[in-house]
Amino acid sequence: MNDDPVLDFLREKKDGYVSGEEMSRRLKVSRAAVWKGIEVLRRLGYEVESRAGQGYRLTGIPDKMFADEIAYGLKTRMIGKKIFSYEDLDSTNDAAWRLGEEGLPEGACVFAEHQKKGRGRMGRSWLSPKGKGVLLSVLLRPKLSPAEAARVTLMTAVSAARAMKKHVGKAPGIKWPNDLLYGGKKVCGILTEMSAELDRVKFVVVGIGVNVNASAKDLPPGSTSLREAAGRAVSRQDFARDLLTEMEADYLRLKDGRFEEIVRDWEDHSATSGKRVTATVFGRKIQGQAVGIDSDGALWIRRDNGLQERVLAGDVQHLDGVRA
Ligand code: BTN
Repeated sequence: MNDDPVLDFLREKKDGYVSGEEMSRRLKVSRAAVWKGIEVLRRLGYEVESRAGQGYRLTGIPDKMFADEIAYGLKTRMIGKKIFSYEDLDSTNDAAWRLGEEGLPEGACVFAEHQKKGRGRMGRSWLSPKGKGVLLSVLLRPKLSPAEAARVTLMTAVSAARAMKKHVGKAPGIKWPNDLLYGGKKVCGILTEMSAELDRVKFVVVGIGVNVNASAKDLPPGSTSLREAAGRAVSRQDFARDLLTEMEADYLRLKDGRFEEIVRDWEDHSATSGKRVTATVFGRKIQGQAVGIDSDGALWIRRDNGLQERVLAGDVQHLDGVRA
């Protein structure tokens, strides 16, 4: 739902009542049309109190990722300027990809309550119980070469970590390249897909899956949620707004040529640097100590024989205790 004038009125009054008569006069519609508008809102899950002689008052909003709700109070200039929201989709990344091909400006976002074919990295799937997470894809058009596109993923991990800290009280760890962990368990995954020519990125779709209010028993093994980490429920709408806000700030840094700052932030959150790891790169295993990431976001691993290897894409497994 988008730009509902009755809802706007109720919000405007916030803690007070607005009369049906005033709404009908200012909206230039009949009293019956106002009443119908209120009923539609109630069916969508909005709590609207009505009091004889005083009118209507908004007392509760639904826990739904409605475009209108996320946009309300969002102060970004580009990310989230256009929001699409769905109850059920195959994958938000596919929907955002189509927007990219249709030529939509960067910053367009797609949210879903549930995905039938949610995708993870390395051909894995992403499972999230309906209505409990933030499933989001953001369309970006960075001026980068295909080799530099991984920067967008690292940037998103940093933005998500900062948004999570705000809601949980402590920051998650980032497991290279882009898993966010609390207590060693995964709370968020990021899947970046790009449309590119040989030397330039046409567009990038950054898909972010965050377990927000699911309980651990409803999530795949090894996963956790913001609610589990915080010990209380987290507002998905507030979290989504904070995530988009952090992403915009970091994307501006990236556009500004300040990627080293993002690398430093990534290192500050790193749950991988200093760990003994096994990296799997196209089926080849590299074991050793993770040293850190370089300015391309590649992970450096010191093998036991002292040789250092650079891993630009792949998966890592932490071999010793958790730090997150
Ligand atoms: C991973 O950890 O392997 C990445 C998971 C990414 C999941 C998100 S959910 C929203 C977006 N749509 C998808 O199909 N995948 C990403």
